[in-house]
Amino acid sequence: MKRVLVTGCLGQIGSELVDRLRKDLGNSNVVATDIRMPQVVKENEIFEILDVMDLDKMRRLAEKYQVDTLIHLAALLSAVAEEKPQMAWNLNMTGLVNALEVAREFDLKFFTPSSIGAFGPDTPKDNTSQDTIQRPTTMYGVTKVAGELLCDYYHTKYGVDTRGVRFPGLISYTTLPGGGTTDYAVDIYYSAIKEGKYTCFIDRGTAMDMMYMPDAIDAIVQLMNADPNRLVHRNAFNISAMSFDPEEIKQSIQKVMPEFEMDYEVDPVRQGIANSWSNSLDTTCAQEEWGFSPKYDLDDMTKDMLVKLQEKLTEKV
Ligand SMILES: NC(=O)c1ccc[n+]([C@@H]2O[C@H](COP(=O)([O-])OP(=O)(O)OC[C@H]3O[C@@H](n4cnc5c(N)ncnc54)[C@H](O)[C@@H]3O)[C@@H](O)[C@H]2O)c1
Repeated sequence: MKRVLVTGCLGQIGSELVDRLRKDLGNSNVVATDIRMPQVVKENEIFEILDVMDLDKMRRLAEKYQVDTLIHLAALLSAVAEEKPQMAWNLNMTGLVNALEVAREFDLKFFTPSSIGAFGPDTPKDNTSQDTIQRPTTMYGVTKVAGELLCDYYHTKYGVDTRGVRFPGLISYTTLPGGGTTDYAVDIYYSAIKEGKYTCFIDRGTAMDMMYMPDAIDAIVQLMNADPNRLVHRNAFNISAMSFDPEEIKQSIQKVMPEFEMDYEVDPVRQGIANSWSNSLDTTCAQEEWGFSPKYDLDDMTKDMLVKLQEKLTEKV
């Protein structure tokens, strides 16, 4: 991975991944793209408008910048995809096929994230294995399972070096999440700092896998640098750093802010999606095949989130 093109780079993951890649590889080796303009483009940084539905433009950019790696992030997330299922199918599948075609034509290494949304109600819920039943009941999940299969297909049929992870809910302070079911675990920190209380849309007792963004970014870089001969699996590895329900994250915040309060107003759509997902993942394959090893547990993450978010929100005032 020496020169990388990233799609959907202004989202929750892309905004932090692009910063990391620019530090690791240098500004001239990172081609950041999105369907919309960022607020600022600094001198020496490369940004291009790219709608991932536009195959020709994606091709032209891969050729223009002579990239060797494509990281494809543009997609509709779980809650938005349930509101607009046809649009989710079109964007998540056509965008992915276009990106895979460009990777095939230009012999690029390829990464795209799957999700815990690729599991469904029939999947064993606790310590869910790498290879298990995947019959999701959401459009997001349907596109994620199809995407995993398609990435494997491009690897076996065309030899494209495709790699992916099943991300759990990602928690971060730089960019707000784009409409996922686990967004409550980000909102809760903003509300804790701004109002000292939070109304949670996911019910108590609903455990889901989560991870702090620095660990997620490390995981992408580590997997992309992994020795291909060690990869038995490819699309996509179970990864997770913690599993908690809303009460546990509340208690973690209360260790730092004892006065913090939380009540519940459950959103039936997002609760239904959460109920269909696993409670906790088995990440053994990722550990064994490429050394996955997250650093943050729930309390470490809470401490860091509250400090960093406080700084960010104070700067804005
Ligand atoms: N954030 C999470 O918690 C999480 C968890 C599991 C998997 N994922 C997956 O990771 C990937 C990135 O997620 P994210 O959280 O950064 O998403 P996000 O919603 O925050 O960002 C998506 C970006 O894609 C851009 N985009 C939308 N339509 C586009 C188009 N037609 N062409 C180009 N760009 C377009 C948007 O402008 C946005 O900047 C997705 O595949 C998502 O399913 C995310």
